[in-house]
Amino acid sequence: MRRLVSETTLRPRQLILPMFVAEGADSPRPISSMPGVVQHSRDSLRKAAVEAVRAGVGGLMLFGVPKVHDAIGSGATDENGVLNAALRDLRAELGDDTVLMADTCLDEFTDHGHCGVLDDAGGVDNDATLERYAEMAIAQAKAGAHLLGPSGMMDGQVGVIRRALDDAGYTDTGILAYSAKYASAFYGPFREAVDSQLKGDRKTYQQDPGNAREALREIELDLAEGADAIMVKPALSYLDVIKAAAELSPVPVAAYNISGEYSMIEAAAANGWLDRQRTILEVLTSIRRAGADLILTYWAAEAAAWLD
Ligand code: PBG
Repeated sequence: MRRLVSETTLRPRQLILPMFVAEGADSPRPISSMPGVVQHSRDSLRKAAVEAVRAGVGGLMLFGVPKVHDAIGSGATDENGVLNAALRDLRAELGDDTVLMADTCLDEFTDHGHCGVLDDAGGVDNDATLERYAEMAIAQAKAGAHLLGPSGMMDGQVGVIRRALDDAGYTDTGILAYSAKYASAFYGPFREAVDSQLKGDRKTYQQDPGNAREALREIELDLAEGADAIMVKPALSYLDVIKAAAELSPVPVAAYNISGEYSMIEAAAANGWLDRQRTILEVLTSIRRAGADLILTYWAAEAAAWLD
């Protein structure tokens, strides 16, 4: 009876697996604050991607961990930079059957850890950053990404990337806009995942956790600029925002079940305080129930295998 009347579906194809690839790594490196998640080598990335696809996930989201960081995040636009090289590897391996996505943001590549380039006063320079995003987008499209994920919350980023892609002939490359992204404490473990050097915070460009109306305004702007899908991030503390986004969005809505949301459940489960599988499936189901069409989750491959 429960199966017959169940209101919410959770299918492997709705799950997107975020993956990290480290430059120069010759084997996977564990991320201590995210038990079970690793910084891949190019080789182990390929194998893990194939396994995730076999489990049925709908897409992969790649993050690069470069060896060298600098002020403008040069590695992000270098054709042979770790992220672009890994995108080429995976596109060659997987073809067009799996949606290949890339994080279009500079923080993994900058020595100050901010999502953009800085001005003389040390603040993030919105418009100078947009020029870097445009270059980065073209490099990622050229390397084989199907869908770009601008996650830096710069004003105008979706429009600038859309125009740059179109002008360079990448009219089929889509944009999954991180539209409503909050300045959240739950990103904590991600800093270790990408060896981030961030000091300070992202409050000049990410949203205040108390604001919901602002999220809708950010979403409307991204839609007007050409977003093919929009995202709310993090997921669990923002289920109301996901619901509001789903009610107004004419394009698919994604939610990112982020690093801290992953780690707190892993930690509790490791202590025997929570039933790991039940908790994970309840969390993912609740994000779908709130209205997300797609979920980015570090459990994507494992959950897909359970659901199959
Ligand atoms: C920015 C980016 C972040 C995450 C995804 N893209 C970090 C941030 O904005 O501070 C976080 C993902 C997670 O915590 O799982 N490139």
